[in-house]
Amino acid sequence: MRTQARLDTATVESLLAAAVAAPSIHNTQPWRFRLDPGSQALEVHSAPERTLPRTDPTHRAQYLSVGAAVFNLRLAAFHQGWRPEVRLLPDPHQPGLLATVRLTDPLGADDQLADSGLYEAIARRRTCRMPFTGRPVPEPIVAQMASAAHAAGARLHVPDIAGTRRLLRLTARAEARNHAHPDRTAETRAWLTAPGAETPYGIPVTALGPPDAGRRMPMRDFTGALPALRLPALWFERHVQVALLWTPHDRRDDWLRAGQALQYVLLTATAHGLRTSLLHQPMEWPDLRAATTLPRHKRCHPHMLIRFGYGPDGAHTPRAPGHCTAQPPAPSATGSGTS
Ligand SMILES: Cc1cc2nc3c(=O)[nH]c(=O)nc-3n(C[C@H](O)[C@H](O)[C@H](O)COP(=O)(O)O)c2cc1C
Repeated sequence: MRTQARLDTATVESLLAAAVAAPSIHNTQPWRFRLDPGSQALEVHSAPERTLPRTDPTHRAQYLSVGAAVFNLRLAAFHQGWRPEVRLLPDPHQPGLLATVRLTDPLGADDQLADSGLYEAIARRRTCRMPFTGRPVPEPIVAQMASAAHAAGARLHVPDIAGTRRLLRLTARAEARNHAHPDRTAETRAWLTAPGAETPYGIPVTALGPPDAGRRMPMRDFTGALPALRLPALWFERHVQVALLWTPHDRRDDWLRAGQALQYVLLTATAHGLRTSLLHQPMEWPDLRAATTLPRHKRCHPHMLIRFGYGPDGAHTPRAPGHCTAQPPAPSATGSGTS
């Protein structure tokens, strides 16, 4: 017979603290939480007021972000000694309800994630936009990152030198297009926060990195029309290590799986002492996203370019505390997708 946890305040707080530590596009933190008092399910909803209409009109990046938070919730449930039961998009009448998590049975010995050490990595993981050392990452670690993506229902492709150059070229092209579009630049700029800003959302200028003096690494320039905020250029690693995260389908539930896979990969890397940063720019232009697909795979829907390696710790980026309401959420229009 199944035992079901009654979620007391301390458990909910610890679950939500883990969830909100997830990475999200432009640190929009596009999630909301509700505890269903009847079923004791923790509901994860999209936050329609924190979307990016220009950069992310289909909400795919928002779903990736929420998927990453769901993965953290799963790890936090294991940490509390419970097995999480996750349902993605459980109610077709509530498109904004992206997932539910219930703590069902006490943990068994067979749970792969339970003592993986990844829970501890949640607090240590940060995006690092600084140059890495270029020291090659040992193959067994890369293989573990690929297995993590696979276990979460996605795939991780680690390209050779020519493939890496091709992906970086496409990213540079996307970055140039973003610059040429004032509406995109303005949207990105709006999520940049000045030192001392009160808001827990957005990216503080202290978390930005420099441009690459070698012009090989197309890091996202968040400063837009404010070159005064741009740091002096530095030389980035010559031996760039990136991986392409993709799924075999491109529906809304695949996006949520891709987000979980993203976080599984990032935490696996963090647990091994690696630093990571994300290059999402080519995924924001349909033709460039299509150009990043892997020719050998008929069904390849790319989601993210993950840069990894050894380097300095990333800067701290704030979070809004995870609140949980018992109220039914207001109707949301963010359930649109390509499914
Ligand atoms: C879907 C998605 C897209 C992102 N795209 C980029 C990007 O293109 N460039 C970048 O520097 N960071 C990118 N990030 C990282 C976020 O900016 C970062 O997670 C957020 O600011 C919170 O900071 P933290 O990761 O250090 O906790 C992305 C994150 C997600 C989830």
